[in-house]
Amino acid sequence: MYSEKVMDHFYHPRNVGEIEDADGVGVAGNPVCGDVMKITIKVDRESETIKDIKFKTFGCGAAIATSSMVTEMVKGKDLTLEEAMKITNKMVAEALDGLPPIKMHCSNLAADALHAAIEDYLKKKRGQET
Ligand code: FES
Repeated sequence: MYSEKVMDHFYHPRNVGEIEDADGVGVAGNPVCGDVMKITIKVDRESETIKDIKFKTFGCGAAIATSSMVTEMVKGKDLTLEEAMKITNKMVAEALDGLPPIKMHCSNLAADALHAAIEDYLKKKRGQET
């Protein structure tokens, strides 16, 4: 039912945890099941690229796999905030070779939490400028 990639990320999730002194914190909740995901990011202020990312997910296996995958799609890639904003939930599910249709709603958290973390960073930055 699950792809090998989903199983791999579920059993060996990458980048689990929480960054201390994170520049951005994003939380996304799934209204379908109540599961919650939190993503923390470290941003290089000069280049506005994401330097580090970690996740914590209180959710099902598919939610853990999608969170792990979204961190892999960002970490070490020097993505700008703009590029990271373009990562969609669908792209994350596709990178995992898909999810069973009944579990597609679980992929809604990953990119949403990432986008929320970026928005949190931008909001804090605007606050500092004014
Ligand atoms: Fe809640 Fe999958 S069942 S995220």
